[in-house]
Amino acid sequence: MVLVMDNTATVDLPSCELSRAERASAAFRQKVKNYAPEIELDYTPAIAREMRPLYNKLKSLFSEQEWAVHAPYIKAINELKKQRNAVILAHNYMTPEIFHGVSDFAGDSLALAKEAARSDAKVIVQCGVHFMAETSKILSPEKTVLIPDSKAGCSLAEAITAQDVRDLRKQYPGVPIVSYVNTSAAVKAEVDICCTSANAVQIVESMNAPRVLLVPDKYLAENVNNQTDVEVIPFEGRCEVHEQFTAPIIRSFRNAEPDMKVIAHPECPAEVLEEADFTGSTGGMIDWVKDNQPEKVMLVTECSMSDNVAVENPNVEFIRPCNLCPYMKMITLPKILDSLLFMKEEVFVDPAISAKALRSVQRMIDVKI
Ligand code: 13P
Ligand code: SF4
Repeated sequence: MVLVMDNTATVDLPSCELSRAERASAAFRQKVKNYAPEIELDYTPAIAREMRPLYNKLKSLFSEQEWAVHAPYIKAINELKKQRNAVILAHNYMTPEIFHGVSDFAGDSLALAKEAARSDAKVIVQCGVHFMAETSKILSPEKTVLIPDSKAGCSLAEAITAQDVRDLRKQYPGVPIVSYVNTSAAVKAEVDICCTSANAVQIVESMNAPRVLLVPDKYLAENVNNQTDVEVIPFEGRCEVHEQFTAPIIRSFRNAEPDMKVIAHPECPAEVLEEADFTGSTGGMIDWVKDNQPEKVMLVTECSMSDNVAVENPNVEFIRPCNLCPYMKMITLPKILDSLLFMKEEVFVDPAISAKALRSVQRMIDVKI
């Protein structure tokens, strides 16, 4: 059965009877209609037919009603991005309608940075958090980099400033400073090199020093310290999503599901990683599931990733502790469409800071692993 939602009826109701979200959606739909009448945001039979193959792939995740809302946006975004010569780079934490519906490339922070450097599109729409969009702009200053919601921040990037790094240099003279990519351009400009969760151990070791500062994620630093002979000095930042996982939480899931494998992101506390069968970046976790095909698995990380990976691994059962990143979830299909339609919100990085930050990011990309 093809369900055709009568969205116009919703628009016509008196606004006092609509929820805030519905009012916003009605106003947005009207804005699109005024600006680009050729864009169809109703779930017409033609759109339903055209989008059916994608729905068949994703139907374990969406009801017909949910799909009726997403499908017209997916179609409109995919058409518009071609007209704009734009690519959509999506982090693995994007919701499945973005990850599977509109992204040209999806991956972890390192893969996204490499793709931004490689892509020859004129416009990059970064579906992720602000530091990811800044990294793309640093790597491709000649491109227009858009982020659908510039308020999509990150508790780690907020945890450290450029002044903090300058203070650390004074406090630890001669000690190399590695910063996680989850930092502002201004911080990247002050450090010696960047790293991501995919390459942190190798980057720390590439400094050829007995002691290295790794900022700002305290847990990542602790976890890298446990995997190398280098003394890794931490800072006080934490990811507000991963810090919520604890060893007792993991053990209680394991007691309920003794056969499951547990794979965890290195932004989790060390006690959580001790409970895990594998630790890796979001991209590393996805590859592990693909390669190992466990009967049951729990991804100890942001919630949407299990949805995204489940689609490609139908024989794996996902046990889902659900911690959402509120910043990643600010990116939605309507905001992506808005972004492409009105070329907003454009990301700018001060050229002097950008040139210095590029050194740190490029050094990381150039380290052979
Ligand atoms: P990854 O580099 O592993 O994708 O991690 C980025 C991130 O923000 C995780 O919280
Ligand atoms: Fe930042 Fe954590 Fe969200 Fe990743 S999950 S973007 S580290 S707050």
